[in-house]
Amino acid sequence: MNSEVNSVPPKRRPGLSRLGPPKRLAVLGTLLAASILVSCVSVTRVVVAPPNIPGATFVGSETCSQCHENITKGFHAATHARLKAPGANAANVGCESCHGPGSLHSESGGAHHTIVNPRKSPDACFQCHLDKRGEFNLPHHHPVLEGKISCGDCHNPHKGDAVIGGGTALATEFDTCGRCHTAQRGPFVFEHEAVREGCTTCHAVHGSVNPRMLKERSAVLCMKCHFQQQTTGGRIFIGGQDHTTRLPRGSCWSAGCHEAVHGSQIGSSLRF
Ligand code: HEC
Ligand code: HEC
Ligand code: HEC
Ligand code: HEC
Ligand code: HEC
Ligand code: HEC
Ligand code: HEC
Repeated sequence: MNSEVNSVPPKRRPGLSRLGPPKRLAVLGTLLAASILVSCVSVTRVVVAPPNIPGATFVGSETCSQCHENITKGFHAATHARLKAPGANAANVGCESCHGPGSLHSESGGAHHTIVNPRKSPDACFQCHLDKRGEFNLPHHHPVLEGKISCGDCHNPHKGDAVIGGGTALATEFDTCGRCHTAQRGPFVFEHEAVREGCTTCHAVHGSVNPRMLKERSAVLCMKCHFQQQTTGGRIFIGGQDHTTRLPRGSCWSAGCHEAVHGSQIGSSLRF
């Protein structure tokens, strides 16, 4: 379990005593939590404990819309809007599938520490996307578990496609990544067309065993697109240039070669 979630102070706030015996609520909470677990199993994902606020119960997304209309109004079209717990007693837990049960939060009018904010605790996401925790534990990864950036920096939980810039909207992947990585974004006098296809062509952005989160650590990364020609004399040509003695020297982007792999202001060979 996540420390952030667990660290939520169990102390009651004034005005919350009307909620009745906390014990009964806790039991109800467990039951409802179980129904979410079922919904996760039904999408064939590995499941860990859902986020929790001690003593809180599920109230349904309708309740949230009373105070967060700006967020709820776009939610119907979001990837995660389709998530619902199955069964006769199922509440519509759209918002609460990530934010945890919201009764204490709603009734207190939005008091601090009464609701899970996944910006601070990615465990809210791992309950259904457990494989992602593994990816963020690989040797080279975006520092999400370290709390420096959050899933929400690259994913839109509240409207539209959860993968920002996914599909055909390449320009938005530029925006997503370029917001923090301005140097790689360009513009460049000599563009590398590969970058137009998206940063994820070469980078496994959750995490990778390779430095710089590269999908491959060798020339294989580049050979996906750049044809390697073998002549009868045993010489290797790439891009019309003889690379026979160059390839053994290191990766294509090592010093003295195509160091400016994202684009160059100086020359089309992407050397500097
Ligand atoms: C009675 C009004 C009200 C209701 C109902 C309500 N909220 Fe809030 N919520 C607030 C207020 C006020 C804040 C604090 C806003 C701020 O700090 O800028 C807040 C903050 C939040 C935050 C940010 C908390 C943080 O620690 O950063 C989240 C997440 C949130 N609400 C989710 C929900 C969800 C999910 C529901 C439905 C289960 C819900 N809210 C229902 C009023 C409400
Ligand atoms: C897929 C998980 C998910 C679902 C479902 C979800 N949220 Fe969120 N919510 C997040 C994440 C992630 C953040 C933090 C965003 C960030 O990193 O800036 C957040 C932040 C918030 C905040 C804090 C203010 C803000 O914009 O940062 C509020 C309020 C909120 N959500 C309300 C809602 C409401 C209302 C719903 C249902 C209509 C909902 N959320 C559904 C994941 C979710
Ligand atoms: C209750 C379970 C649940 C929770 C919690 C949840 N997700 Fe999801 N998520 C799903 C399901 C189900 C899909 C549907 C698509 C699929 O099956 O891959 C999905 C889809 C996605 C996708 C898009 C996948 C695609 O291929 O388009 C992203 C990105 C994503 N989730 C990120 C998040 C993030 C970030 C959080 C936390 C803020 C989160 N999810 C929380 C269940 C969940
Ligand atoms: C640095 C940006 C970034 C961060 C941070 C990030 N993601 Fe992603 N994620 C992406 C991109 C880009 C894709 C598109 C798929 C691809 O080609 O890699 C993606 C795809 C996904 C998918 C769907 C495809 C798949 O791999 O299953 C899920 C689910 C997902 N992310 C969950 C998460 C969760 C959960 C977190 C936080 C713990 C997170 N992501 C943090 C950028 C990010
Ligand atoms: C919210 C800011 C943010 C966003 C958005 C973001 N990153 Fe990052 N990125 C970081 C941080 C912080 C690091 C870690 C830097 C460090 O450890 O020195 C990092 C590291 C990296 C690295 C490894 C750099 C190195 O020197 O090893 C690559 C590659 C990378 N990001 C690519 C991407 C791509 C591709 C995207 C878009 C899918 C993206 N980033 C989106 C903040 C961000
Ligand atoms: C053609 C493959 C490819 C594409 C596409 C690509 N990168 Fe890279 N990227 C690399 C390689 C190779 C390195 C390692 C360079 C090195 O170690 O000198 C790298 C390194 C990085 C680094 C570490 C700092 C640096 O420049 O060495 C960041 C940050 C980064 N890339 C972000 C991005 C972003 C953001 C995008 C999309 C705009 C992107 N990359 C697209 C191949 C690519
Ligand atoms: C997604 C496909 C793709 C990948 C992967 C890719 N490239 Fe490219 N690259 C292109 C395209 C398309 C061009 C422009 C047409 C051409 O010159 O072949 C190009 C052009 C180049 C050029 C300029 C050639 C010239 O003289 O004009 C260099 C140098 C280059 N790439 C190096 C690399 C390196 C190094 C890598 C691996 C880190 C790599 N490329 C990965 C697609 C790709």
